[in-house]
Formats: sequence, C-alpha cells, structure tokens
Amino acid sequence: MARWTAREIPGLGGRNAVVTGAGEGVGLHTALELVRYGARVVIASRDRGKGEAAAARIRAETGGKGGGSVEWLPLDLGDLSSVERFATGFSAAHDGLDLLVNNAGVMALPRGLTADGFERQFGVNHLGHFALTGLLLPVLLARPGARVVTVTSGLHRSGRMDFDDLMGERRYGRLRAYTQSKLANVLFALELHRRVTGAGADLVSAVAHPGVARTNLARTGNPMQGLLVTLAKLPAQSAAAGALPSLYAATAAGVLGGEAFGPDGFAERRGHPTRIRPAAQAYDRVAARRLWETSEELTGVRFSAFDRGEVRP
Ligand SMILES: NC(=O)c1ccc[n+]([C@@H]2O[C@H](COP(=O)([O-])OP(=O)(O)OC[C@H]3O[C@@H](n4cnc5c(N)ncnc54)[C@H](OP(=O)(O)O)[C@@H]3O)[C@@H](O)[C@H]2O)c1
Repeated sequence: MARWTAREIPGLGGRNAVVTGAGEGVGLHTALELVRYGARVVIASRDRGKGEAAAARIRAETGGKGGGSVEWLPLDLGDLSSVERFATGFSAAHDGLDLLVNNAGVMALPRGLTADGFERQFGVNHLGHFALTGLLLPVLLARPGARVVTVTSGLHRSGRMDFDDLMGERRYGRLRAYTQSKLANVLFALELHRRVTGAGADLVSAVAHPGVARTNLARTGNPMQGLLVTLAKLPAQSAAAGALPSLYAATAAGVLGGEAFGPDGFAERRGHPTRIRPAAQAYDRVAARRLWETSEELTGVRFSAFDRGEVRP
C-alpha cells in the first residue's frame, strides 16, 4: 500500500454506502471519494443545512460521473429513536448496504447527556454507532463482503474503560471521556469482527483513524481550549488526507476483518494510510465482551442475526 491515495479506489458502481457525520470534515471527504468512484452514498448527520450543502458540493465536484449519487438523511446518534428511524427508513428503501462508515464524533465536550440520558461523548461516539450497526446488520448481511469501518483516534491509546463509572457521573474529564469513547470504538470493532467470525458471516469489521486533521472537531465552546487544540494541530494534515485511512479500510482489496489503519508518518499524525496496531487495551477480550453486553443493555439493540444463525450460507 505504498503511498496509497484515493486515486487507487476501485470502481464502486452499484454499492450502497452510509457515512455518519459526513456533512463536514473527514466524513465529507470520505463520502466525496466514494461517490467519485461510483457508490450511492447516504450522508447521515443531524444538521440538514450542512448535510445538504455537503451533498451539493459532492455532486458539483464529481459531476455525477460513474453512476455515483449522494443524499442526506437525518441521523442523531445521541437519540436512539432517531437511530431507529434512520435504520428503518434506510432498510425499507435499500435491498442491501455494502459499506457503513461509523465516522461521526464529538470531542472533549463539557459533560452533557444524550436524549436517552447517556454521557454525550460515550453516547454519540460509541453507543449510537453500536445501535446503528446492530439495526443495519440485516441489510449489511444481505451483501456478501460488506464492510463496517469504525473511526477511532490515535488518542484511544490513552483511553481506559471505567466500567464502574462509564457515564462519568462521579468523575468527569472532557478528554478522559473522549479517549474512553475512542477506545470503545476499537473494542467494538474488534469484538464485532470476532462475532462475525464466530457466526460464519461474510462481513469485514475494520478500524481507521485520520491522524490529526484540520476539521471543526475541537469546537468545545471554551475559547482557551479551542486555541490550545488549534496550536496542537498546526502540523495537521487536510481533512481529505485524514479520510484516506477510512477510504483504504472501506475499499482496498485484501482488507481483513480486525485490521486497523492510520497514517504512516511520525506518531501516526499524518501521511498515507498504513496498517497500524491499536493499543494493547483494545485487545482486552474481557473488556470487549463487557462493553458489548453493556451496550446491548443500554441501547436495547441486539445483533440477533448472529444468534439466529441467519448468516450461514
Ligand atoms: N480531526 C482530527 O484530527 C481527528 C483525530 C482523531 C480522530 N478523529 C475522528 O474522526 C471522526 C470525524 O471527525 P472530524 O474531525 O471530521 O470532525 P467534524 O468535522 O467535527 O465532523 C464530525 C461530524 O459528526 C457529526 N455529528 C456530531 N454529533 C452527531 C450526532 N449526535 N449524530 C450524528 N452526527 C453527529 C457532525 O455533524 P452534525 O453536526 O450535522 O450532526 C459532524 O459533521 C470522529 O470520529 C473523530 O473522533 C478526528
């Protein structure tokens, strides 16, 4: 994969893709390249204005060549009823889903709650995507070789799962909650891979992180913190470059379930996509199982197609 770029994306004609949080940032550039190479992409995010502007920009930049198309549909990962509405609507309108990119995210917010009462960073970054993936599992399984790419951060390496205080009720730190949620992304993706394998399903679950990319992710509402984050990002790469690890995981030949991708430069901050090894705590199977069971309980979403054996040929 030496110096892989988006120009190496294979033809994606006839493929359906959902990219969460693709109204801007890394997700927008992920969606743009998928459309350019012929995929039918749904931008799934909260803000209609941003989502529709992104879709218009993608149409203008790709010129409708190669059969690709793009539309925006509302999804609030911080509201399980919205996640359910999105999954039900998508599944009714499409006979299968080839690619789900769990990209949306919030970072370092002051403590707040989702509509269902979950701490916001854990709720949006992890639980919302857990529920979305589970509810879309039947349409994913309808397409052999479908891929789920879950977007994490290099900061997952500082993450610790605090199962006794998952929602930060007793002790909350903005960055601590973020790194926990990004570790949860990796634990989820690797556990999904193990469950796919156990069930004999034909689905690839992979992980990607963008390095450090210039986006609006660090808008925390605190101007001082915003400034510090901006300074820390000075050597950052473009959002388009940040999308390459996701695009590689989503489209390149030979990607295996359980693999992870990030930039190949110093400290995985920038560069071309390469295989990376997540932190040791991301391979903690006991924690992964506990997170999965807790997520099922909290969201009420079960990946029951695996249990019912519906996936065997
Ligand atoms: N930029 C970096 O340097 C960096 C580094 C490491 C990891 N990452 C990861 O990369 C991913 C993309 O981040 P980015 O930098 O592109 O950030 P961004 O520009 O802020 O984009 C994030 C998107 O997530 C969407 N979103 C936020 N809350 C949502 C919700 N409740 N429901 C649905 N969508 C929601 C937002 O759209 P709406 O407001 O329209 O909903 C927004 O468009 C995130 O998972 C982030 O953790 C980024």
